[in-house]
Amino acid sequence: MFKLKLYKEGVVMSNLKASVPKVLSRKISSVPPRASNCSCPLFIVYLLIMGVSSPIHTVVYGLTMSRPSIFGFGASMIDSGSDFFAMPYRSTADFYPYGSDYFGKPVGRWSNGRTFFDLIMEGLGYNLLDPYLKSTRSDFSCGVNFAYGGTTAKNASSFGELFYSDPITLLVQVDQFRNFQSQVLSNEHGYAAKRKLKEHFSKSIYFLEPGGNDYGYYAFLGDEYDPLESVSETIAAIRQGLKSLYESGGRTFIVMNVTPLGCCPGILSDSRGNGSYDEYGCKLDWIEVVELHNSHLTELLEDLRNTLPDAEWILFDAHDILLDAYRNPQKYGVLYPFKACCGSGGEYNCRHEVACAESPKYVNGTLLQWTKCEDPSLHIIWDTSHTVESFSRHLANGVLLGTHLFPPFNITEAINRN
Ligand SMILES: *[C@@H]1O[C@H](CO)[C@@H](O)[C@H](O)[C@H]1NC(C)=O
Ligand SMILES: *[C@@H]1O[C@H](CO)[C@@H](O)[C@H](O)[C@H]1NC(C)=O
Ligand SMILES: *[C@@H]1O[C@H](CO)[C@@H](O)[C@H](O)[C@H]1NC(C)=O
Ligand SMILES: *[C@@H]1O[C@H](CO)[C@@H](O)[C@H](O)[C@H]1NC(C)=O
Repeated sequence: MFKLKLYKEGVVMSNLKASVPKVLSRKISSVPPRASNCSCPLFIVYLLIMGVSSPIHTVVYGLTMSRPSIFGFGASMIDSGSDFFAMPYRSTADFYPYGSDYFGKPVGRWSNGRTFFDLIMEGLGYNLLDPYLKSTRSDFSCGVNFAYGGTTAKNASSFGELFYSDPITLLVQVDQFRNFQSQVLSNEHGYAAKRKLKEHFSKSIYFLEPGGNDYGYYAFLGDEYDPLESVSETIAAIRQGLKSLYESGGRTFIVMNVTPLGCCPGILSDSRGNGSYDEYGCKLDWIEVVELHNSHLTELLEDLRNTLPDAEWILFDAHDILLDAYRNPQKYGVLYPFKACCGSGGEYNCRHEVACAESPKYVNGTLLQWTKCEDPSLHIIWDTSHTVESFSRHLANGVLLGTHLFPPFNITEAINRN
């Protein structure tokens, strides 16, 4: 039996046979903040107040109708605090120093500040999206974020009993969206009003960040790991999610590919893999499985363009931005491309015994504790695999300026069209 320890976005996964995540020590913190500090004052806001089927929620759905909404699906790179609201203080992102360089406190985002998704919202003049799971004072005027840190595209059950997988996987998020949509629709009365709402959903933008965890956590866990099978299952789940959103009326999709995990500190400091590195110092096996995924994703979108041509199927090539930065850090003003900003030391400042924000502990008689770097902008990565806010700007620009969208797509135009 192999003894393995890896991080599932701050939830310590020790020899994953134990199928329950370890609950991190609780710290006292202030009330959940409002994520958004901007507003859409010019918009007519339709407030649809309702009780939601979920027993813990009473949600105000305030979709702004005058501009398309944005709906986010995926994991920690775009999560805006789902875990914080669903299971407060379970994940390290709920603790200092997460959020410290922008929000001044942890807000459940996997960064020292805003995520690149936040920066896209700001760039469009939108409010930051609240997570779907936020139960009070949620601001859904500009859209809803269904993304949940740590989740995979594949169904949780597909990983078998051996591994714990977070349950809010991509298809569950899609179900949550459908639930949200049908509640919003059922609260609108009259044919014209319902039609207008349906139109709104079809004009909205569906942004997906799927697949990172399918490889980050589950690749090369054992000798029997089959990259081809893993990629085809992950792509199948993404296809199902996209088709389901299409059937719900979605017509504009931006799908992000998987970032070069083989270069990120979390994977570089992990014992998995066959020990081969490329000329830049990245783990070859991860580089290859991610490239395989990304080429299949490109094919999937091509296929959807052909079979469902009335929708826009846009690829966001985030992989290219990050790979370029790992290989040419000086272009981005980065000095430590392979070193996490926040971590407990080692070559990649990413020792797994004590993660960023985790309590210090004695390892072989030495007290191990995390530190935060002085200047996050000299790094690409904040903790294990998530970008520091300053680097997130480059990712956001890939979308806002359209430099990394294929086929060419102007998101600013898309949110202003009628
Ligand atoms: C995954 O779950 C969805 C429902 O959430 C289900 O429709 C689908 O068939 C499942 N896929 C697999 C491969 O089990
Ligand atoms: C490790 O895996 C990579 C990716 O499959 C491969 O290119 C490389 O040759 C392998 N190295 C060894 C030593 O087996
Ligand atoms: C602790 O020390 C033992 C014995 O020297 C060694 O095998 C082990 O790898 C060390 N653990 C860590 C986390 O350094
Ligand atoms: C997108 O369209 C807007 C408005 O039509 C225009 O001002 C902007 O320059 C375009 N952006 C890009 C990157 O082409």
